[in-house]
Amino acid sequence: MEILSNISLKQYNTFGIDVKAKHFVSVKSVEELKFVLNLEAFPEKFILGGGSNMLLTKDVDVLVIHLDLKNIEIISKNEDTVIVKVATGENWHDFVLWCLEHNFGGIENLSLIPGNVGATPIQNIGAYGVELKDVFVSCEALHINTQKVRIFTKEECKFEYRNSIFKQDLKGKYVILNITLELTNKNHKINTSYGAITEELKKMKVESPSIQDVSNAVITIRESKLPNPKVIGNSGSFFKNPIISKSHFNTLKINFPELPSYSVSEENIKIPAGWLIEHLGFKGKRFGNYGVHNKQALVLVNYDDAKGEDIFKLSQLIQSTVKRIFDINLELEVNII
Ligand code: EPU
Repeated sequence: MEILSNISLKQYNTFGIDVKAKHFVSVKSVEELKFVLNLEAFPEKFILGGGSNMLLTKDVDVLVIHLDLKNIEIISKNEDTVIVKVATGENWHDFVLWCLEHNFGGIENLSLIPGNVGATPIQNIGAYGVELKDVFVSCEALHINTQKVRIFTKEECKFEYRNSIFKQDLKGKYVILNITLELTNKNHKINTSYGAITEELKKMKVESPSIQDVSNAVITIRESKLPNPKVIGNSGSFFKNPIISKSHFNTLKINFPELPSYSVSEENIKIPAGWLIEHLGFKGKRFGNYGVHNKQALVLVNYDDAKGEDIFKLSQLIQSTVKRIFDINLELEVNII
């Protein structure tokens, strides 16, 4: 373990923003993590996981601790289910592929989501009809100040749409060390409820899909809509899909009869933010080296060496325009640093 100085963070964030860390260290174990957290020479620290859900707008003038803890462990297995514990620094999609190789089901709909395992409970990642909470059992997390390890059950994580206790009351207080999931070992629960998957499986001429088929379909859909961060820097959806009241929705329908929606409760409705942004003409708009993706308006992109600050300003312009035209507050899904 070596503490480096003036390190570019470009390869450590999926947006590919080239800012510098004043000091930088990669930790491979809980002991190393505790050791660097205790270093008095660096009173302030910044914890970095897979860098897939952040927009860096300035140099990070503190010690950046890169979580590189790896391990995948089968805790128990019976005929029907398997309990797997996976460390924070494992790449999420590689873990999905590992599960498919072992024929463990439950996270195939979450294929190709960028980032590392440790970030997945923080925002309860979700895609194509499945959320992490559907397979989540618990996670272990280290309290940054007391350095005590605590186990959080699923209930204690308070998962909601793109939200958990780690984004709310406990924000910045804990480092996720590992997560434990319950997956299926046979009789997989194939979830093709999301329309696009059914269509893709039809195209693939698959009638009774396996977990591998579902994963392949999701990968094809994602590759057709979402930019590959290795080619075009991005952080996936930059905004959350807003949830509004039914009365607000009914008022909007008068002027925007084609406004799509998903029912979430008796009182509320979820609106695809991508539709709002596209409707305002932002989709595919390019401002020099950054812009709005041309196939998915929820995704802001860095074409080449853009500044995080410029992308942030674009997100503010989108938010204020959405507010003005639709009276909807678009919340950011991405953390601004
Ligand atoms: N839409 C548009 N224009 C766009 C994009 C979307 O009109 O440019 C409308 C269409 O009506 C479309 C609907 O939005 O039918 C849904 O689009 P899509 O299936 O692409 O899903 P989304 O609601 O835009 C959410 C997640 C994605 C996730 C997909 C699939 C959020 C903020 N985003 O996007 O998650 O992959 O569903 O489940 O909930 C991410 O979080 O980084 C992410 C990519």
